[in-house]
Amino acid sequence: MSKIAPGGKASSAPLLGNDIEPTLFEMSVPGRSAYQLRTTGVPATPLKDMVPFAHLNPEVIPIAEVSERDLVAHFMRLSHRQFSVDLGMYPLGSCTMKYNPKFCDAVASDPGLNTVHPGTPAELSQGWLELLVDLEQKLCAITGMQAATLQPAAGAAGELTGLLLMRAYHTANGDPRKRVLIPDAAHGTNPASVTLGGYEVTTIPSNERGLVDLAALKAQLGPDVAGIMLTNPNTVGLFEEEIVEIAEAVHDIGGLLYYDGANLNAILGQVRPGDMGFDIVHMNLHKTFATPHGGGGPGAGPVAVSKRLVEFLPGPKATRMTDGSYAWVKPPRSIGRVHGWHGNAMVLARALAYITVHGGDGLKRVSEHAVLNANWLRVRLADSLPAAYDRVCMHECTLTATPLKQKFGIKGLDVAKGLLEEGFHSPTVYFPLIVDEALMFEPTETESLQTLEALAEAVERIVARAETDPESLRIAPQTTPVSRVDEARAARQLVPTEDAAAR
Ligand SMILES: Cc1ncc(COP(=O)(O)O)c(C=O)c1O
Repeated sequence: MSKIAPGGKASSAPLLGNDIEPTLFEMSVPGRSAYQLRTTGVPATPLKDMVPFAHLNPEVIPIAEVSERDLVAHFMRLSHRQFSVDLGMYPLGSCTMKYNPKFCDAVASDPGLNTVHPGTPAELSQGWLELLVDLEQKLCAITGMQAATLQPAAGAAGELTGLLLMRAYHTANGDPRKRVLIPDAAHGTNPASVTLGGYEVTTIPSNERGLVDLAALKAQLGPDVAGIMLTNPNTVGLFEEEIVEIAEAVHDIGGLLYYDGANLNAILGQVRPGDMGFDIVHMNLHKTFATPHGGGGPGAGPVAVSKRLVEFLPGPKATRMTDGSYAWVKPPRSIGRVHGWHGNAMVLARALAYITVHGGDGLKRVSEHAVLNANWLRVRLADSLPAAYDRVCMHECTLTATPLKQKFGIKGLDVAKGLLEEGFHSPTVYFPLIVDEALMFEPTETESLQTLEALAEAVERIVARAETDPESLRIAPQTTPVSRVDEARAARQLVPTEDAAAR
């Protein structure tokens, strides 16, 4: 048990201090509160009169009681020990940590949006429904699709929804089929979603150019194939040049094409998955449309589909009726709900703000700058960390630390940890799996030339250290609040504890 008296540990740890921050439970003092509820005049009703006894928990559940002031200070102190998109460049390839413009927060703070209960009848929340229909139409225009569901809570939830749609479509045609093809460079959520969707995974190898091997793909096609899941640009950051041939081959055997549109940053306003032949697209709003990301917080992974899948979409969906009003409508052969209520609505509102403020031209410039920045970095770093595939990349570039490993025994992970000491977040390491000592940088469109140059110089200093002082890199980072951890063990043996004595 903690030796700290309740609320007795007042911390004012300096920035990046190494004091252990007390948990909210350790700071708790009975009677303190960080919120105020509006006085409504509605008489209080005991819980037992509203909830059946069987559903009531007889135990008192401990809740941390802290003042607003202490709560804010607690999270500010923790946030000062963290890296964040607001703090600096966060070049995490594939995971995309792009800057979230503050006007989107202003939209989400509008009480006209955030005080509306999701159960409000359609006739009293017409504005919200109009907003959702507007977002659906804009996402369809961007992807070249017919209709979309906004319900899924994240990319992986969108993937599962897409696979359930694939299954519903084939089942309705009397043949659910068995296998889904996935390239070996794919994101790990793809095979997981295929399995959850009740299909078997068939892996397609990449060729020496880092693209899907078309001959190997064709060899796997057959009447039991439900479809293929692809990302284009793929997870190495390269454009699948044979996408039209791939689409034709899969459609010829009656299969569907699923586009993992987790990240649309390279293709916004340039090319659309629908025009490449895809039938299902999920989008991670947090990667392309700059909504908050990570921390398990609310996300959104809308799924857009081509005409033949519209009737299966999750529902109810916000729909514009012929008289111009809006209503909740369930598509005729809907697979049902994939989220409580209508999805994470405030995230959807933020994404619509981002799309609307940028407009078509602005979104096109986003993709141009994202691709330009990634290629600038690829060329600038060529002597320090060569590209895994030496040609024009899209919004991210996959580099390799293999030469450093061979010469000095310094691995990609050591380079990534060294970057933390230089004040940059690490790139993605060891992904995609097909690249040895992979370091995947996604600078995103918002980083300036000066920031990119600063990153390149930081990488150069690390490469120089690999030669002169490799040991210091193997134990990096030494200057951050948390030094090097055994990452595999931390992931496999997670022991969350609120007991300070056990830490
Ligand atoms: C290519 C790709 N697909 C799917 C996902 C899964 O998205 P989410 O993390 O929102 O579930 C990611 C996430 O990093 C991704 O990079």
